[in-house]
Amino acid sequence: MIQVSHLTKMYGPRTAVQDLSFEVKSGEIVGFLGPNGAGKSTTMKVLTGLMPATSGTANVAGFDVFEKPLEVKRNVGYLPENPPVYSEMQVEDYLDFAARLHQIPSAATKAAVAGAIEKTGLGDVRKRLIGNLSKGYRQRVGLAQALLHNPKVLILDEPTVGLDPKQIIEIRQLIKSLGGEHTVILSSHILPEVTATCERIIVINRGKIVAEDTIERLTTRLKKGLIYSMTVRNPQPAAIDSLRRIPGIKAITAEGARVGIEIAPGAEEIRDRVVETAVKAGLGVLEFSAERVSLEDVFLQLTTIENETTTTGA
Ligand SMILES: Nc1ncnc2c1ncn2[C@@H]1O[C@H](COP(=O)(O)OP(=O)(O)OP(=O)(O)O)[C@@H](O)[C@H]1O
Ligand SMILES: [Mg+2]
Repeated sequence: MIQVSHLTKMYGPRTAVQDLSFEVKSGEIVGFLGPNGAGKSTTMKVLTGLMPATSGTANVAGFDVFEKPLEVKRNVGYLPENPPVYSEMQVEDYLDFAARLHQIPSAATKAAVAGAIEKTGLGDVRKRLIGNLSKGYRQRVGLAQALLHNPKVLILDEPTVGLDPKQIIEIRQLIKSLGGEHTVILSSHILPEVTATCERIIVINRGKIVAEDTIERLTTRLKKGLIYSMTVRNPQPAAIDSLRRIPGIKAITAEGARVGIEIAPGAEEIRDRVVETAVKAGLGVLEFSAERVSLEDVFLQLTTIENETTTTGA
């Protein structure tokens, strides 16, 4: 549904996006994750046919965004980073107006507006002025506008930014419900956002893709080894040293009563031996548990390595 190949976008001398290639299949919900200035919004603007790229190609819903921007726009619903505010308009009138911009035939406008209002839960505020709505409801108006023409592809730039926790949950549920029927790309710089809504994530940093995988595989792939943690009653150094001598141990760290144990990949069966050795050495084992490498760690790992060698572009 979306194919991006060697896409590069320069703003004057500054490279915002460099040699991006990725694909999104029909019905997928993909998260575009990266820190501020990574190039998320730039990529999205190119994909909606709003802005030309410097080089490379992008095909959305079967149309080349450079050759057929109008066709692309017809098949794409876009929630921009800063949705335009028509504060003097009523919700319903605005959506009516947006339907005309989307070139929905006038006979179908009413049903389209009603459908979008229903999907986004705007029924109660349809007659209110947009300017008087809360931020969350204004965001919903933006989403409703993106859904009006029932597009195949939805491109949502930071869809839950500025919302309260309850609204975030509601919008995430809405986005999730759109998968399958629609193909969705959403951007975010917050991890829980993508883990809650997306099946797959593309991590972008400094204009380049640094990782692309399912959330689960991304977490596992970056795990250096298996990390466990043990809480002990008597952390004497000699006893801790006896753990270091167990074959298959990569590293042992001791911090007060907490002993960190890193086991080489594939050597998990030595866990028994670790506990046994610890008991025999008189450490007094109170607790032994697996420590998961969170996606948060992965994200930081992926996006800070490069930051150290590049200047900030924001
Ligand atoms: N119109 C513009 N003119 C010049 N530089 C720009 C323009 N828009 C974006 N940039 C630069 O391009 C880079 C990527 O910006 P972009 O807005 O795509 O990032 P982003 O990932 O969406 O960030 P954020 O999380 O802050 O929204 C940044 O270095 C930014 O300063
Ligand atoms: Mg952005």
